[in-house]
Amino acid sequence: ADMTLSRICCIGAGYVGGPTCTIIADKCPDVTVTVTDLSQDRINQWNSDNLPIYEPGLDEIVRRRRNKNLFFSTDVKKAVIEAELIFICVNTPTKNYGLGKGRAADLKYVEAAARMIAEVANQSKIVVEKSTVPVKAAESISNILKANQRLGVQYQVLSNPEFLAEGTAVNDLLNPDRVLIGGEQTKEGREAVESLCWIYSHWVPRENIITMNTWSSELSKLAANAFLAQRISSINAMSAICEMTGADVTEVAHAVGTDTRIGNKFLKASVGFGGSCFQKDVLNMVYLCECLNLPEVAAYWQQVININEYQKRRFANRIIESLFNTVTNKKLAVFGFSFKKDTGDTRESAAIYVCKYLTDEGANLRIYDPKVTDKKIFSELTNPLMCEDPERVKELVTTYPDPYEAANGTHALVICTEWDQFTTLDYSKIYQKMLKPAFIFDGRLILDHEALMKIGFQVVTIGKKL
Ligand code: NAD
Ligand code: UGA
Repeated sequence: ADMTLSRICCIGAGYVGGPTCTIIADKCPDVTVTVTDLSQDRINQWNSDNLPIYEPGLDEIVRRRRNKNLFFSTDVKKAVIEAELIFICVNTPTKNYGLGKGRAADLKYVEAAARMIAEVANQSKIVVEKSTVPVKAAESISNILKANQRLGVQYQVLSNPEFLAEGTAVNDLLNPDRVLIGGEQTKEGREAVESLCWIYSHWVPRENIITMNTWSSELSKLAANAFLAQRISSINAMSAICEMTGADVTEVAHAVGTDTRIGNKFLKASVGFGGSCFQKDVLNMVYLCECLNLPEVAAYWQQVININEYQKRRFANRIIESLFNTVTNKKLAVFGFSFKKDTGDTRESAAIYVCKYLTDEGANLRIYDPKVTDKKIFSELTNPLMCEDPERVKELVTTYPDPYEAANGTHALVICTEWDQFTTLDYSKIYQKMLKPAFIFDGRLILDHEALMKIGFQVVTIGKKL
């Protein structure tokens, strides 16, 4: 059978759909790729010089392919009708209502996409679940499609989870450790898997494309994120011991990580992990375990989240204690608001929680981030799910376009994101304009603490007694 494809489309033009399809379009010049979204705003931005997401290296590739074989459109139905293969890349946030509230993944966008495909498709389609979903979601998608299929139209549903990380998405997509494809173990299923393999094999070596059954593939995505998040909670748990004992968490991480069975990556202690996925996916798995009547397994993974919450709270508490047990009316500069460097994404950023704990105590915050807009900072801090008094937050928080200005006249600096530019600021100059004693709280272990202490700073960091 012919495995080649000439038209594909993507539902959901977010952090995953946008970059993934851009790379596919770049690597498969003979395939027409249409990325769709319901949000006119997002699509307009993808079609402009100001892309809706900041991702190093992406702009150039979008510019090179856009309106050649890469299109961005709100006409989702038209794109679905024309495509032979459809990626579902919609968001799957944690449910904030009803059954499984606060834990289960909300699949309403995935289901809406599936129903829409079934409504308009007049030819057979391969439907690829790229969004991160609970195990067996592909089966639900398949049921919806098959219950509504028109005469002569057939569907194959594949699982093809995405492993890119924000800030490094282009490189992650160009050089993936592996591409994972799950499908039905039937002749038609295997053919569909082959078609998707054909797309990736334009640039990914065959041996790096792993195929397996659909459920293994779905679970592997949750497992990978859970293992990654668990490493961070493990090293952060060590950081608490270090602070009490005089051990240094960086040294411990180095010693542990040189064991090749453990490996040295992803062992950086921090103020806590953030991002749209780690917490969501671990909670998703916790919920799945509870539904499967596996309470011990659920409790095991829940602890990864508990330690992360503890770490964010612990860092804020140390700030308050160090500042003589009160931050009320004190001025604190917060450096970094995104959940990691090289992205403007703030979803579940540890900075949000640290800022909340500090404003709860009445601190005046002066926030600087190189990529996050004022609007986003305020919308995160006044989000009704965690803020009772938005007017008070607006009084207490100011954003600054420049780190030196933000630090001017403050009692303390709080580093929440590991942006490279924070390591090269002129801290002597900053020190001179701060109130004394001047404090630095390094939540990312990125600064030269010895040098800062020489300048005169009181330095407090994660996982080390200074
Ligand atoms: P996102 O919120 O940035 O993008 C999702 C987009 O889907 C939104 O623009 C939304 O408007 C659109 N959408 C929702 N319903 C739609 C519909 N019915 N028709 C058309 N468009 C619709 O989300 P994201 O960060 O790209 O994540 C998408 C999925 O990928 C999630 O399941 C996530 O867990 C997973 N994932 C994310 C990352 C990451 O780094 N962000 C990495 C791997 C996997
Ligand atoms: C993560 C995974 O790395 C991706 O493989 C996955 O595809 C993605 O989630 C997803 O499913 O959404 P992402 O959240 O974009 O990617 O970024 P990471 O680099 O994993 O960082 C997550 C958080 O952990 C950040 O807040 C980061 O600062 C923190 N972190 C990371 C640490 O505190 N220490 C570390 O050693 C590494």
